[in-house]
Amino acid sequence: MRRFYKGADISRVQSVAEMAALARYRLPDFAWEYLAGGAENEQTLSCNESDFAKIRLTSHTLVANYPPELTRSLVGSASALPMMIGPTGFNGMLWPQADIALAKAANVKKIPFCLSTVSNASMEQVREAAQELDFWFQLYGLKNAQLNDDLLARAKAVGVSTLVITSDAFVVGNREWDRRNFARPRQLTWHNKANVMLHPNWVRRVMFPYGLPTMGNLNPYLPTYEQSALGAMKFIQEQLDTLFNWESVARIRDQWHGKLILKGVLHPDDAKQAVKLGFDGIVVSNHGGRQLDGALSSIEALPAIVKAVGGDIDILLDSGIRRGSDVVKAAALGVQGVMLGRATLFGVAAGGQIGVSRVLDILQEELSRSLNLMGVQRLDELSPAHLYLS
Ligand code: FNR
Repeated sequence: MRRFYKGADISRVQSVAEMAALARYRLPDFAWEYLAGGAENEQTLSCNESDFAKIRLTSHTLVANYPPELTRSLVGSASALPMMIGPTGFNGMLWPQADIALAKAANVKKIPFCLSTVSNASMEQVREAAQELDFWFQLYGLKNAQLNDDLLARAKAVGVSTLVITSDAFVVGNREWDRRNFARPRQLTWHNKANVMLHPNWVRRVMFPYGLPTMGNLNPYLPTYEQSALGAMKFIQEQLDTLFNWESVARIRDQWHGKLILKGVLHPDDAKQAVKLGFDGIVVSNHGGRQLDGALSSIEALPAIVKAVGGDIDILLDSGIRRGSDVVKAAALGVQGVMLGRATLFGVAAGGQIGVSRVLDILQEELSRSLNLMGVQRLDELSPAHLYLS
């Protein structure tokens, strides 16, 4: 990994991997592991990237057309690119007001942004900061039905267009680094406390003046003595509905009248069930390798899902997108677009909104250039014929 030093110029960062190196340099170990780590042996985490690398692109030469057309409809949302920013929790640990930085960068690029249930900024704060944003909200299945209802009512009130139900995290994945970094729940080990002190800029940015940020969406439901980020983490873990099933999502379908997406689909039968229940879209995802280790990579799971439901429902994909050419590969296999997870988080951790915008520019340029070099003029020309699987 390339090394970076204090004061590195974000505009000179050339790739998502370089942005990750800068984020690594700026974050204390425990925050970096939260961002970059996966479950157990991290096999799925690493396959998410290496399976993209196994796919080769075919190309036609001497078909000059630059820049190619990149606009796309993502489950009915008009997007300037076949990508959007997906839901991630606790972003405020990476940069102050990180949710707002991500939302604003998405708004400038004219792509949708999805806020997590466990974000630090509340949905009302995000809407206030980015009034034109195509705003999506991600919901976990929670035990308390009233809490679910209230979150849906708030989402509707702030003009959320699309609700994303995350189906693969009703129990939290086995993230060993998380337990290793804490001596007991909510208490960093001495080693990690010392490591935090080696990152005074992070301490100044993120911890002053009020400590770790709280969870805006959940604060109204927390007892006063638990009004902290870590209190909210405990609360959400207790609230995750371990009995969350197809009946639960059918109930949400009846309650929510906007567009509805199921995130965390890896099996064609589940994709068919989502079509049957009237979902508008699915996200083929293994949660960035943070849940079931050994699960298929998303790009590996995709062809069977496209075969089962392609044409019946919009398909998005996440997990492992680090280059514009990854977006080309996913689109050639049949997705409408991709959700970005760590790619834009590396940007926000390295430099707030400027870092996110730089990542989006890099991916856009890479996508444009790849299509041009392949002799493809529009995204919807892409098909499996553009891929070579060794
Ligand atoms: C996530 N992800 C996630 N998903 C979700 O539905 N709700 C959430 O709150 C979170 N939180 C979260 C935090 C962090 C730090 C990461 C890295 C991921 C999963 C996320 O939406 C997406 O599925 C993965 O990040 C995609 O994989 P890549 O692109 O990070 O490899």
